[in-house]
Amino acid sequence: MSQAYLSVEEDCLELIYTRRSVRRFELRTIPEELVDKILEAGARAPSPHNTQPWSFVVVSGTSKRKLGDSLRDSYLEELRKNGDPDAEVKARRAWKRTVNAPLLILLSLDRRLLKPRSPGRKMFEEWIMGIQSLAAAAENMLLAAHFLGLAGCWRAAPLFCQDRVRKVLRLDEDIEPQILLEIGYPESSQLPRRKKRWDELSLWKR
Ligand SMILES: Cc1cc2nc3c(=O)[nH]c(=O)nc-3n(C[C@H](O)[C@H](O)[C@H](O)COP(=O)(O)O)c2cc1C
Repeated sequence: MSQAYLSVEEDCLELIYTRRSVRRFELRTIPEELVDKILEAGARAPSPHNTQPWSFVVVSGTSKRKLGDSLRDSYLEELRKNGDPDAEVKARRAWKRTVNAPLLILLSLDRRLLKPRSPGRKMFEEWIMGIQSLAAAAENMLLAAHFLGLAGCWRAAPLFCQDRVRKVLRLDEDIEPQILLEIGYPESSQLPRRKKRWDELSLWKR
């Protein structure tokens, strides 16, 4: 094995080991060519039968504000329903995160692209696999962002108000919003989160 290959391998592992969620960003615009690279990394993810059942939407301008309002309203309703005394503060904080994120990418499942393996097979498993592949696409994007000197965070918010998100972004009925990635230049560098030890949660069965 050549030295160069070893170094790429080490760099790749280092990239994976040092990624962490970042929620505060500099007010710096991300060049479009970097956005393209992140989107391409998402599109390279594995998917069931290579169906690539995803839709990526870069949300900016007035759409970003509308999405922020919509996610806030949904979150506020939920918090109020649960009698949270800090509902307004929390909802406002979530809204600020959305509208201030330098780059927002919504990852959705496009149900029209799912393919049952055999006619008798239930769509349910295909749907699960589709969502699993979206998660792979999201992680690819976060790693690509990290590689490019950016950072980001995964937000589950769209999952809780899919109808609203579809409506505000005028997405087709078959599009299921799942993941919102907020990405930007990190405000400060942070150490990776503490993780469970891999050798304590992994088993070998021989
Ligand atoms: C499925 C999923 C949903 C998540 N939802 C949110 C979210 O709604 N808001 C948020 O701030 N972080 C969210 N995160 C990020 C996690 O909080 C974060 O990955 C976790 O704390 C571990 O930190 P790390 O990413 O720095 O390793 C989510 C992550 C995953 C995988």
